[in-house]
Amino acid sequence: MNVLIIGAEGMLGHDLVDILSVEHEVSTTTIDTLDITDIDKTIETVGNISPDVVVHAAAFTDVDGSESKADIAYQVNALGTRNVAVACREADSALVYISTDYVFDGTKGRPYNEYDQTNPMGVYGKTKHLGEVYIRDLLNKFYIVRTSWLYGYYGPNFVSTMLKLAETHENISVVGDQIGSPTYTVDLAKSIALLIKKPAYSIYHVTNSEHCSWFEYAQLIFEIAGKKVNLNPVTTEEFGSPAPRPKYSVLENYNFKMEGFPRIRSYKEALRDYMDLL
Ligand SMILES: NC(=O)c1ccc[n+]([C@@H]2O[C@H](COP(=O)([O-])OP(=O)(O)OC[C@H]3O[C@@H](n4cnc5c(N)ncnc54)[C@H](OP(=O)(O)O)[C@@H]3O)[C@@H](O)[C@H]2O)c1
Repeated sequence: MNVLIIGAEGMLGHDLVDILSVEHEVSTTTIDTLDITDIDKTIETVGNISPDVVVHAAAFTDVDGSESKADIAYQVNALGTRNVAVACREADSALVYISTDYVFDGTKGRPYNEYDQTNPMGVYGKTKHLGEVYIRDLLNKFYIVRTSWLYGYYGPNFVSTMLKLAETHENISVVGDQIGSPTYTVDLAKSIALLIKKPAYSIYHVTNSEHCSWFEYAQLIFEIAGKKVNLNPVTTEEFGSPAPRPKYSVLENYNFKMEGFPRIRSYKEALRDYMDLL
């Protein structure tokens, strides 16, 4: 197939290019070649390539920064995604949109499936959710892929932040009361490669299996790295980030399983693979 990856220079975008290129003719755009907030350019770019599938991995991903830069988050995540959806409609391309666990408020206390009520708490989650709404209003051929707590080789992430902090700090405080599923961008990109082979358009939760708190995640990172650090679990309130975040945003990969796709491995196994590369 002819696949266009928008946001190819991002952390996930890089792995998407590597993995989708194995089986497909891949074209890419980055913020330098296509700013998705420009609707005319977006329509023109997608129209010229006329791909079978567009994978939209571009976003304003600064969760805390979105609180003070709400207009930018809205322009990129909501309107930019609307622009990509309009372009896909004109070019008759299917769209893969990467969304987030932050569309939920985290009060369910059990894993969320695809049909649970969304209720984003912060600006980032709200704008990503609006992106989903535009896609559902404008397109028939879409895969909305909600994922969580991404880390990968091509971008700064929680793992790299922890390892860097440990170089200068003996004591590190990590939030212990938010639960989610760390997800390796390679595993997510491989799952997207499977998804686009079937016209099974839907919302999909796609994360590595098993879950943990950020504190437990940090413990495992330092265990694998063989580093001794004094880790201190703190509450969300004590940590005091600008953006509100869901307390429990584990995503059940329900549709993925129902479509017969294989179970995605544990975040623990994936984390070891990733840290082997560092
Ligand atoms: N990271 C996570 O934990 C996480 C969790 C759940 C879902 N997601 C979603 O997964 C997707 C990929 O995330 P990621 O972590 O790979 O993000 P990332 O590394 O920040 O990549 C996003 C890319 O989008 C680009 N971009 C920003 N504004 C743009 C615009 N107006 N036009 C075109 N490109 C633009 C960025 O360019 P610049 O770097 O130059 O700004 C960057 O290359 C996003 O949709 C994100 O919302 C991420």
